[in-house]
Amino acid sequence: ATTLGASAAQTGRYYGAAIAAGRLGDATYTGILNREFNSVTAENEMKWDATEPSQGRFTYTNGDRILNQGIAMGAKVRGHALLWHQQEPGWAQSLSGTALRSAMINHVTQVATHYRGKIYAWDVVNEAFADGGSGGRRDSNLQRTGNDWIEAAFRAARAADPAAKLCYNDYNTDGVNAKSTGIYTMVRDFKARGVPIDCVGFQSHLGTTIAGDYQANLQRFADLGVDVQITELDVAQGGNQANIYATVTRACLTVSRCTGITVWGIRDSDSWRTGENPLLFDNSGNRKAAYTAVLNALNAG
Ligand code: G3I
Repeated sequence: ATTLGASAAQTGRYYGAAIAAGRLGDATYTGILNREFNSVTAENEMKWDATEPSQGRFTYTNGDRILNQGIAMGAKVRGHALLWHQQEPGWAQSLSGTALRSAMINHVTQVATHYRGKIYAWDVVNEAFADGGSGGRRDSNLQRTGNDWIEAAFRAARAADPAAKLCYNDYNTDGVNAKSTGIYTMVRDFKARGVPIDCVGFQSHLGTTIAGDYQANLQRFADLGVDVQITELDVAQGGNQANIYATVTRACLTVSRCTGITVWGIRDSDSWRTGENPLLFDNSGNRKAAYTAVLNALNAG
């Protein structure tokens, strides 16, 4: 096929993009979005600070704009993210203990209920594991409410929206390493105890190299009985950018439970990685060599 989404759909997958409500008035942006992608993720509009700016007051206007864009395109909608230690509203940052635990579980319940039946997959918990080789949890106010907070969040999300795939999402997990192994151990435990979890998201914010065991890492998670999703892909500019995008594409096509790939933005100028030109379209919306490498890999799949 001649577009990313249609080519991914040839193997039953999606190729998606993180999108920003504030850019939906940009004709170049929406032109590429509608043409190329069959999944969307809210870059910021469904985060805790955006949806519950003050305790018990929920604001869905911008999250709904993202949802409605996805529905208008006939695209899957990925929800991002029910709980994350960053972008917590100020009121939550000053809570702790049982007050925070009940507030965070209420947040999961309320937001997942609002979007019930419309979300393909939720990043229920984002970035709860630490960097630096321990393989353990990241210290945060959420973690300090007790080690069972992730399990409680997944159980609340399943109760609120039984139709959504529930994902754990993280970065620097793009190969077999202490962090990805820590997550692997948690997922294996969850599956053994019947804690509801359906997928693991690999953000894949990549530099100028990719780990040789990138695919093997995806496969070991799939072998636990969960889907794997590439959720925030972008790749540092440079001579290897197109090859790395193609390598990620081939890895997802080879791992049968890899359900799709999401790039974290559309044009280089839309990227959080200012100046790194990490995406598939240049600032003017023209296809880059990386785009062609992805399209060819999807069609070879
Ligand atoms: O909405 C406010 C606006 O009102 C204010 O005027 C402006 C200036 O202060 O800030 C705006 O909020 C910004 C927000 O993006 C929306 O544009 C925040 O400052 C800014 O920190 C935030 O950055 C986002 C970042 O997550 C932190 O939430 C990036 O756009 C987004 O690409 C990035 O995405 C994260 C994923 O969610 C999780 N994985 C890592 C990834 C990259 O950091």
